[in-house]
Amino acid sequence: MRRSYSAAIIGCGDIGHAHAEGYSRNENTTLVSVADPLEAARRQFQAEYGVERAFASAEEMLATMQPDIVSVCVWHRLHAPMALAAAQAGAKAVICEKPMAISLGEVDAMLDACQKSGTKLLTSYQRRFTPGWEHARELVASGAIGDARFGQARNGAGLLNVGSHTIDGMLFLLGEPAPLWVFGAVDRHTERFERETPIEDACMLVVGLEGGAQLLIESDLADPGYGRGLRLRLDGTEGSLEATESHVRLLNPTSGGWHDVMALENVDTIGGEANARLVAELVEWLDGGDGHRCDALRCRPTMEVMMACYESASRHRVVHLPMSETRYPLERMLAAGLLPPDEPGAYDIRAFLRREQIDEQRYAVLRSQGVRHHEIMKRLAAEAAGTFWSTQTGHG
Ligand SMILES: NC(=O)c1ccc[n+]([C@@H]2O[C@H](COP(=O)([O-])OP(=O)(O)OC[C@H]3O[C@@H](n4cnc5c(N)ncnc54)[C@H](O)[C@@H]3O)[C@@H](O)[C@H]2O)c1
Repeated sequence: MRRSYSAAIIGCGDIGHAHAEGYSRNENTTLVSVADPLEAARRQFQAEYGVERAFASAEEMLATMQPDIVSVCVWHRLHAPMALAAAQAGAKAVICEKPMAISLGEVDAMLDACQKSGTKLLTSYQRRFTPGWEHARELVASGAIGDARFGQARNGAGLLNVGSHTIDGMLFLLGEPAPLWVFGAVDRHTERFERETPIEDACMLVVGLEGGAQLLIESDLADPGYGRGLRLRLDGTEGSLEATESHVRLLNPTSGGWHDVMALENVDTIGGEANARLVAELVEWLDGGDGHRCDALRCRPTMEVMMACYESASRHRVVHLPMSETRYPLERMLAAGLLPPDEPGAYDIRAFLRREQIDEQRYAVLRSQGVRHHEIMKRLAAEAAGTFWSTQTGHG
């Protein structure tokens, strides 16, 4: 018999919906409260998910409700302070969105605080629960491609953003070997931000892994295409595979050429079944199970690799891990006046998520037609700007 757990969400935006779906689908968790300074956002969560209490501030909510599980679904810069506040308030578990934070110093402060308070800290890499990634990991572990030697993937929309899923996916498929070194190159010629965090225009990194395999990650260097999600490619001594969250292709001496070993439609990469299974595994862990695949300690290497990419670019050196820099190297470079933009003018690639000034009536109409929050926000922003709206861009 499983125990029951109360849950709370900080940040009633796009990914907050995915967490709410996860809790709603688990009979042992009840979403009891939400916090968001935007009244329209918290009222929407109350109406859609039957949430009892809603607060304008996380601090007030944590002081009033003492939830067992807290989801941190705010923009990156608030991940560390909100996770620390939840641990301090006595939460049994915190599910923090990716990237864990924007510096290793913050990440380690979160891990330390949660260890001291006995809080189980997860990073919300819900794609670890998608069938394509799970099957690809099993194939690699079973030796279907021999010894993995090389992994390659591309993503758009920023390294800390979609890139964090790409690196996490690569490490997950390979059975989580420790990264040993990183060699990175970073291009920042415009004042590009993502959710108020300065990011690069493009970057690429080579990562050396324990056991000898290497990864090549290209972020924003080419349009990766999003038709079938994040495409991860692995080559080994006996074969190769390509995996997305829903599709897996294999090539080895017995496969008879490239062979589809999985081709599923309608796989939830965000929300739905992915978040439901993440929550279910957390409930098992809280009930005494032996761990969680999104344990933040297991996800920390992805943060270290990303930070090492920026550090490598700033020092023009291969960075050997563990890394000593605890700050966000890109921000440090910018503060030092390095990487001056060709044309000044800050812009944020996720500005369309800002809900403060949207037409709430139009939002409600689209929502009643079943359109997902992310798509509504993109569409309203495009309509306001008089530009073409497309669903064919990355969601992260
Ligand atoms: N795991 C994934 O696949 C995935 C996908 C999308 C986003 N994310 C991550 O989720 C995080 C949130 O992104 P999003 O797309 O949901 O953003 P969003 O803008 O849609 O939602 C953020 C919400 O937080 C609220 N907020 C702002 N300040 C707050 C505060 N002090 N207290 C409480 N709420 C506050 C905003 O009003 C907004 O409703 C980001 O870090 C992002 O990287 C992860």
